Amino acid sequence: MAKVTGLEGVVAAETDISLVDGENGHLIYRGFWAKELAITSTFEEVAYLLWYGQLPNTAELEAFKGQWVADRCLPEHVLSLLKLLPRETPLMSVLQTAVSAMSESQYSWPPSVEQALKITAVLPIIVAYRYRLENGLPLIEPLNQLDHAANYLYMLTGVIPEAAHVKALTAYLILGMEHGMNASTFAGRVVSSTQSDLISALTAAIGAMKGPLHGGAPTEVIAMLDAIGNKEQAEDWIRSTLEQGGRLMGFGHRVYKTVDPRAEALRQVTARLSSEDPWFELAIHVEAAAIKLLDEYKPGRRLYTNVEFFAAAIMRAIGLPSALFTPTFSIARVVGWSAHVLEQAAINRIFRPQSVYTGPMPTEQVSK
Ligand code: CMC
Repeated sequence: MAKVTGLEGVVAAETDISLVDGENGHLIYRGFWAKELAITSTFEEVAYLLWYGQLPNTAELEAFKGQWVADRCLPEHVLSLLKLLPRETPLMSVLQTAVSAMSESQYSWPPSVEQALKITAVLPIIVAYRYRLENGLPLIEPLNQLDHAANYLYMLTGVIPEAAHVKALTAYLILGMEHGMNASTFAGRVVSSTQSDLISALTAAIGAMKGPLHGGAPTEVIAMLDAIGNKEQAEDWIRSTLEQGGRLMGFGHRVYKTVDPRAEALRQVTARLSSEDPWFELAIHVEAAAIKLLDEYKPGRRLYTNVEFFAAAIMRAIGLPSALFTPTFSIARVVGWSAHVLEQAAINRIFRPQSVYTGPMPTEQVSK
C-alpha cells in the first residue's frame, strides 16, 4: 500500500472563497479572475470581496476604508514587545509573537469581519516597526491618506512610494491573498474549528507560512539566483542541484500541474519594472533553463514556475530586502486566512482526521 503522506487529493472543506484549478492554471476569487483583480483593484476592495463575498459599492468602500485607517494602531504593550525581542529573532517569529500578544477580548470566538479587518490593518505596522527597530531607524507613523500597500512601503522607508512600486506591490499582495487549502490556511482552519479565537488561528497560520516549502520560498529564490551568479553557470548549477536531489526554489506546486497563473501575472508586472535589470534577465534565463531541466530530471512530474519565483523578483524590484519577503506574503495572506476562519465558523465541525497505526503491537495479551 502507498504511504499516506501530505493529504494529497484529500478534500478538507467546501469553500466559496476561491477556486484553484491546477490542471488549467486558473485562480478565481469569488467568481472573479484573481489576475484581473490584481491589475484593476485595490487591496482593500479585494479584501472586502473575500470577506463579504461581493465587491463593495462606492459608499461601502469609503466606510470600509475609513474603518481600516482607524484600525491602524498598535497596542502599546505590543510595541514594547517589538522593542524587547532579541535582535536576531527572525521577523516571522517576531510577527507570530506580536500577533499572539494581540489576543485580547476583542478577538474572541466567534470571528467577525471587524476582527479580520483590525488585525489585517495592524500586521504591516508590526512588520514595519520591527524592521525599522532592527535597523536602528526611527518609527514612522501610518499616513491616513495612503492605501494599504502604499502605507506599508511608506512605513518601511519613510518616503512616499512611487506609483509604479505601489501598483506592483498591490498586484503581488492581491495575488498572494488567497489560495484555497494551502498549508497555512489549513492550519488556521484546524485551530478555528476548535472554536479557538481568530488570533490563535492566525498564529498557527503564520507558523506554517514560515517554512521554506511554503512562504519561506522567495528568500530561497534570491539565494539560489545569487548562488548561480550568471547565465553561463545556470545550467551546470541546476544540473548539479538536481543530481544531488536538491530542490529548485520557486518551482513545483502540489496543485498546479501547469503554469501557476500568479507567476504568469507577476512575470509581466516585474518585466515592466525591471526590463533593463541584469538580475531580472538572469531570473528569466534561469526560469527557462530550470523548466527544461526539471522536465529532463523529473519527467512526468510537470514542474513549472510557482508564484514565489516572481514574488521574489517583484519584491527585489521595489527594493524590499529578503528578510521582508515572507512577512510581506503574510501581510497579504492574512486576508485569506481570516476569510477561511470566518467560513469555518459559519459551518463549523471540529477537524479530527484518522491516522493509520503502523507501530508494533504488544506481544502480551491484554490482562483482564
Ligand atoms: N525542484 C526539484 N524537484 C522537485 C521540485 C523542485 N522545486 N518540486 C517537486 N520536485 C520533485 C520531487 O523531488 C519529487 O520527485 P520524485 O517523484 O522523484 O521523488 C516530485 O517532484 C514530486 O514532489 P513532491 O515533493 O511530492 O511534491 P509536493 O506536492 O509534495 O510539493 C512543493 C510541492 C511546492 C513543496 C515542491 O514542489 C517544492 O518543494 N518546491 C520548492 C519550494 C517552493 O517553491 N515552494 C513554494 C510553493 S508555492 C507557494 C505555496 O503554495 O506555498
